[in-house]
Amino acid sequence: MADETNVTVTGTEPALTTIAKIGGHEGRSVRLEGWLYNLRASGKLLFPIFRDGSGTIQGIVPKAAVSEEVFETIKNLTLESSLTVTGKVRADKRAPSGYELDVESIEVAQRIPDETPFPITLKEHGVDFLMEHRHLWVRTPRQSAILRIRAEIIKAARDYLDENGFTLTDPPILTPAACEGTSTLFPVEYFGEEAFLTQSGQLYIESTALALGKVYSFGPTFRAEKSKTRRHLTEFWMIEPEACYMDLDGLMSLAEGFLTHIVSRVLEAHRGELKVIGRDVARLEAVIAPANSNTPDASFEGDGLQPVREGSTTGAGFGPGGNRFPRLSYDQAHAMLLDAHAKGFIENAHVYGDDFGSPDETYISNQFNKPVLVHRYPAAVKAFYMQPDPLDATKALCVDVLAPEGYGEIIGGSQRVDSYDLLKSRIEAHNLPMDAFQWYLDLRRYGSVPHSGFGMGIERCVAWICGLEHVRETIPFARTLNRIYP
Ligand code: 4AD
Ligand code: MG
Repeated sequence: MADETNVTVTGTEPALTTIAKIGGHEGRSVRLEGWLYNLRASGKLLFPIFRDGSGTIQGIVPKAAVSEEVFETIKNLTLESSLTVTGKVRADKRAPSGYELDVESIEVAQRIPDETPFPITLKEHGVDFLMEHRHLWVRTPRQSAILRIRAEIIKAARDYLDENGFTLTDPPILTPAACEGTSTLFPVEYFGEEAFLTQSGQLYIESTALALGKVYSFGPTFRAEKSKTRRHLTEFWMIEPEACYMDLDGLMSLAEGFLTHIVSRVLEAHRGELKVIGRDVARLEAVIAPANSNTPDASFEGDGLQPVREGSTTGAGFGPGGNRFPRLSYDQAHAMLLDAHAKGFIENAHVYGDDFGSPDETYISNQFNKPVLVHRYPAAVKAFYMQPDPLDATKALCVDVLAPEGYGEIIGGSQRVDSYDLLKSRIEAHNLPMDAFQWYLDLRRYGSVPHSGFGMGIERCVAWICGLEHVRETIPFARTLNRIYP
């Protein structure tokens, strides 16, 4: 019996592999499962390009080298038809992947009929058309590259937190109350009662932080944003670390270490994808370069780079050492904006006390080649849970991280109010339903500690790292003010 089994498996059948791993099979025949990405014919030669999700490879099909049937099948194959191709792997310096495939045979899984060709072609399509066909658009090399980098960013972000002692704790998505302000809540009917889709896991992970010390959440969050900008989605993914006994300075160091790690990992593993997207990698290299390559705009006569404040110990161990990002207080950022307005660089003069608008953020972040940490905004424009600055109670101990090249806010965070009385009065002042916040107040009744956290929107980070115009390309299926299809 054993002998018979041996006879059937001693495979002369070529090994099944992927284009990404094809280099390990040089000189041998392999099978690839994929799709026809492109086809060029030149007399008795066919040049099909195959893709399999892991990459693309050009095949060579000389008429004389294959059967009539194989030649005709490939010659008549339509783009995006699914197939299994067998061929011999040959190194070729000119090929983008370094290899070509001398095709031996092909098995077509589904040939797309000529009458209904794949709708997305190599010609230019409008954005509306592409978004309408997003379920197919994701197959194109640029979109696939973006999704692969998105996956790396998520993994790098999680690895950084996992390796620094943070435990993943998942907050609920259906919630009874607002976290980030009542105007952008998505209501859902919950067995006859009103509930909401979560805007942020923060309040819940403050609870798990008091249990586990350092925690994070990663999941979908929802904002009924009426804004139609290149930075806003109604459904986006947020990663939120929260740590006990961490102050604002510790939090800023954490943000620096976190972003440096993410950018380094993308540069390490995805130069090929960055090239497909057309990203200027020098911009990313500047982000992780040592701190002194950081030059604030020469026209700004302020102390742009604030030193670490004395007395902060909780930031120890985070951050990349001498690789700090520039830090600006709100007041310094405001001065920078007034100066820019006076010189005619921005149209509207920033009003002291107001939050920064998109053009303001764009201007500030354009002054640096690294992400810039803007801290201590006026408490009045920020969330109810932010700890006031002991040196100036009109300011919140908060930080927004603005990505360079005009990308604007990618991270928002703060130290949290830890006093029961202050938190209670904040909930009242913001007209939030006290009943729904009793559990949150419990966190200040029982062993309250100073603690801090931030949230990073994955899509904003992907848009910046990939250098994209709009966040709609950073997530497989974007949800925006006027799109919920497909
Ligand atoms: O600044 P936000 O609103 O902060 C919070 O939600 C805090 N509770 C987070 C925390 O401290 N744990 O949002 C955090 C980040 C923003 O910096 C941005 O990257 C992203 O979430 N974000 C959005 N991304 C896409 N579309 C939107 N509509 C977004 N709103 C926020
Ligand atoms: Mg924010």
